[in-house]
Amino acid sequence: DLPMPQVWRTKMVEHIHYSTKEQREKWIQAADYNLFNLRSDPVFIDLLTDSGTGAMSDQQWAAMMAGDESYAGSSSFHKLQRTVADIFGLQFLLPVHQGRAAENALFSILVKPGDIIPANSHFDTTRAHIEYRKATAIDCPADVAFNTLVDEPFKGNINLSVLRKILEDHEKVPFILLTLTCNVTGGQPISMENITAVKQIATDYGKPLVIDSARFAENAWFIQQREHGFRQNSIREITRQIFLMADAMLMSAKKDGLVNIGGFMATCRQDWFDAATGQILINAGIPIQRPVGGHAVLVNAGSFLPAVPQEEYVAQTLAVALYVEAGVRGVEIGTLLNGRDPSTGCERFAEVEFLRLAIPRRVYSNEQMQYVARALINIYRRRSSVVRGLSIVEEKPILRHFTFYCAFK
Ligand code: F0G
Repeated sequence: DLPMPQVWRTKMVEHIHYSTKEQREKWIQAADYNLFNLRSDPVFIDLLTDSGTGAMSDQQWAAMMAGDESYAGSSSFHKLQRTVADIFGLQFLLPVHQGRAAENALFSILVKPGDIIPANSHFDTTRAHIEYRKATAIDCPADVAFNTLVDEPFKGNINLSVLRKILEDHEKVPFILLTLTCNVTGGQPISMENITAVKQIATDYGKPLVIDSARFAENAWFIQQREHGFRQNSIREITRQIFLMADAMLMSAKKDGLVNIGGFMATCRQDWFDAATGQILINAGIPIQRPVGGHAVLVNAGSFLPAVPQEEYVAQTLAVALYVEAGVRGVEIGTLLNGRDPSTGCERFAEVEFLRLAIPRRVYSNEQMQYVARALINIYRRRSSVVRGLSIVEEKPILRHFTFYCAFK
């Protein structure tokens, strides 16, 4: 019975820099005594974070070479989606560059001013994303959490009676958050018993449960090692059992995901996913330019209203219909905008007749954007009845789209 050592070996080395005490005194002074201000090379051993600083395996680096960088329809996305669904059981996936972006994406639809979000404890970026939205993050750590002298197996547990009291006293609680493991109390795990009790309370009060899951695998391992009844279960099984209770997960893949950068938001709630991704139009089958661009959604009006001939300015026809339907103004980016060929006077038919819905930054709420989507869907449902387009009554020779007059055919 030999003890089992590591089953991997080192393949690459990186030089680190040793320095003298005098040098370090100078550098830390120059950094205004903020260790975050130190450049990385004067640090000999860097224990600032475990985030994105792990060594990746040969297989991971190789996977990067085999990665599909396609702008749309990347097979790497589908592979990640399958893997996330397989491990966590959550089917809707929004990849992001790191955990804090997942917080931003989900909280932008769930957190409103005046809300209260209870958690075992919030990581700093999580708290910041909540407070930035003028909501309050309340930590409900276990009584023993900060008693460093006692050895308790699950110091990451949430205090259930404090949680219940918050839910009793406050209506504006959009969800309950659990951080696994609980970073700020010292990487302390939450027991399955505690998670299950939180889920029961969440169900009783009709609240969703969101899990900040950066260190989910360690938490599962602690459950396997320390909690009665889990010795025979695999990390995978324990993980599955935990995430079956979650409505959504926020993931910084830089920790237990063992990558240098990356993260995602995953959820079983289609409505959350739709709101976080602008997926509503796509799900309704509306032909839009994909993936959705940075500043605008472009509807392919030719496919949207197939009965309207291109000569009848189909995107302008749709723009008018949307305005009539809901008071929403978009802009035609098609034949009308192209104008006539100056030498021949002929129409320059657009490759695609687009209706552009440009989104001013920081102006409209998600509810308002959902209203726009619904209005478009209404028109889409009755699209076969839209057969008449427009004709121009009067136009100027240049930049006609600013000043033309037209009428329905
Ligand atoms: N949630 C938890 C529990 C975290 O520990 C972190 C990051 C994040 C979210 C944010 O993820 O960095 O990918 O944007 N923790 C690192 C740390 C920075 O040092 O503990 P991120």
